[in-house]
Amino acid sequence: MILLDVLNKNPDPIEKQKTPIWLMRQAGRYLPEYREVRKRAGSFLDLCYNPSLASEVTLQPIRRFDFDAAIIFSDILIVPHILGLSVTFVEGDGPKVETIYEDHDLSKLKVKEFKDSDKIKRVCEALELTRQNLDKTKALIGFAGSPWTVATYIISEKKHNFEFCRNFALNKRKLLSKLIEILTQQTIIYLKAQIDAGADVIQLFDSWSGVLSEDEFEAFVINPTKIIVSEIKKYSNVPIIGFPKGAGILYKKYVENVSVDAVSIDYFVPLNFAKEIQNSLVVQGNLDPLVMLSDKSLIEEKVGRIMSALSEKDFIFNLGHGIIKETPIENVEFLVDYVRNWKK
Ligand code: CP3
Repeated sequence: MILLDVLNKNPDPIEKQKTPIWLMRQAGRYLPEYREVRKRAGSFLDLCYNPSLASEVTLQPIRRFDFDAAIIFSDILIVPHILGLSVTFVEGDGPKVETIYEDHDLSKLKVKEFKDSDKIKRVCEALELTRQNLDKTKALIGFAGSPWTVATYIISEKKHNFEFCRNFALNKRKLLSKLIEILTQQTIIYLKAQIDAGADVIQLFDSWSGVLSEDEFEAFVINPTKIIVSEIKKYSNVPIIGFPKGAGILYKKYVENVSVDAVSIDYFVPLNFAKEIQNSLVVQGNLDPLVMLSDKSLIEEKVGRIMSALSEKDFIFNLGHGIIKETPIENVEFLVDYVRNWKK
């Protein structure tokens, strides 16, 4: 498995010639075959909890583009949903999660029931099915949102209001800490279940880590993620990729303090800074997903810059954030070809 070889720093000289590639949100609305299954499944959550359809859409981008990894089709908001909060996805309006705003709202969370939830079993069944049908040379990625990012959807009303979230972190610190502690413990349970079901790699998405300043970043991003990573490391040797999107200079503090095996960098991270990070761990990233909407010469230029800077050392090619639904399929084919044929 070329992706695992890179993550485990496996010194195989032949495999080291190649850069593994997969794309965040690779299963999704830019694919006609996804849109077809999505229509059949009913709601987005129905699709997430339908093991055979979730597995089918997980495998679609592998069949089409031959990526080196499949990421299980699900969502970071599954954890609050399993905890008993209502979660809805309204097209064009983003997700809506039932709010926790006061101490007594914490009693809405069904913590004791979480571990044995039928919903976790369904996600695990999708992982098992996918692992059975996925080529042995491909890695299967399980994932969860990091507690801070999941909490931002729980504490703020329907639209993401970061002033509100930052204010909450400063002025409702105790309540936020309790919520984050619950999410941390349940996320550990959820990830262990995914590993038992066949996940070869785990990715932690912290999409909104970048809105916090240093103290709060340490309290609500670094500390809980550290706990998750160390508990998973005690449980298994499955490699973990951290994605503290938008962390800027705080990426350094993140990699120094959280023992992830790899860090996914967003498209704001300068390549020289990424090279520095690469001295201590594997880097994944970081093409701006908007480049994928352009013509092939721009894709070549931007991908070439990234490959020249990072492909000599331990590197996984990815986007700096999820693929956009307007992305032309032929551009994805072009990208995979270009990365595969890159001569180190
Ligand atoms: O990467 C993959 O292919 C695996 C599946 C995956 C989804 N969401 C599927 C999805 C993963 C890894 C996620 C993670 C996720 N979900 C994140 C972290 C990554 C990031 O993008 O920052 C976040 C913040 C969410 C929350 C979420 N879920 C948002 C903001 C949305 C978009 C809402 C919209 O309508 O555009 C979702 C819904 C969602 N999750 C879709 C998919 C394919 C679109 C729903 C649909 O098909 O109708």
